[in-house]
Amino acid sequence: MHQHHDVIRAMAGFVGEYLTQLNPVEKSWQPSDVLPNLTAGDWRESVQQLRERAAGLSDELLVVLVGDTITEEALPSYQTMVNRHPGVADDTGASEYPWARWTRGWTAEENRHGEALSTYLYLSGRVNMRAVQVTTQHLIRNGFDPQTANDPYKGLIYTSFQERATRVSHGNVAQVANQSGDALLGKICNLVAGDEARHEEAYKSFVKKLLELDPNGTLTAFAEMMKAKVVMPARLMADGVEPDLFARFAVVAQRIGVYTARDYADIIGHLVAYWQVPGMTGLSGEAAEAQHYLCGLAAHYQRFAERIEGRPARQTRAPLSWIFGRSV
Ligand SMILES: [Fe+2]
Ligand SMILES: [Fe+2]
Repeated sequence: MHQHHDVIRAMAGFVGEYLTQLNPVEKSWQPSDVLPNLTAGDWRESVQQLRERAAGLSDELLVVLVGDTITEEALPSYQTMVNRHPGVADDTGASEYPWARWTRGWTAEENRHGEALSTYLYLSGRVNMRAVQVTTQHLIRNGFDPQTANDPYKGLIYTSFQERATRVSHGNVAQVANQSGDALLGKICNLVAGDEARHEEAYKSFVKKLLELDPNGTLTAFAEMMKAKVVMPARLMADGVEPDLFARFAVVAQRIGVYTARDYADIIGHLVAYWQVPGMTGLSGEAAEAQHYLCGLAAHYQRFAERIEGRPARQTRAPLSWIFGRSV
């Protein structure tokens, strides 16, 4: 592990060049660019239109959207996570160290996601906003353990996975929203998905560089990360009512195809291919074992996804606080 921070520190210059992957603030979209302008003369019509369009969203989609929003709103846990990883951490809170600048810039972009989505939900009048906010407060209190054991290699692998997972999920919500006639929600979710895609590219490039600098250590960390399974950031969400709220949310996401076991398998397959794991040569014994494990992993999860295919549809419906106790 000690060498891991040295390698991470050694690539600070490389990360410095990647700061351009973050958009300048002046060129960034802001939630107010897409949400109704409440200072305009026609604010009533804009809000009315938002609410009319939101009226066509299914309870399932609302539940998934709420879960995604809460996941974004727990951003303090994610910035804390990154800063626990030695070599990456921001030592002062305003350090000029490239990794620290990257993390702050990334956090600053991410912060717009929760704000845009939760303002939309608030204006839509479709969900129990208090229950949503209670869940966010619980989640941040409960925290989040990404199972990286503070290894910066695992942290970057985890984040590459998660950025892609959120990109897929927000992109799919956008699609369902558009099909349901809510183009505004579609636009918001696509803007968020666009940020996630940019972040994914950056994190994947950082890991690619790690693979060049330390192929054995990186491959071993990748396999260990996948063996521990990629825990979802909102795993510990709670509304004070439901015993396993995250599982409820995950089942609905799987049922309407927003984020499924197949996506999990696809993401693993994508990362293994993107990082060219199968073609790596000259590896240590341990890393060669990791390579073998990783190369068969996507297929393993695909088979699992096929086995559980019909399960979410069969799940009995139960009430959920976020949608005023209606059943999903
Ligand atoms: Fe995000
Ligand atoms: Fe993200």
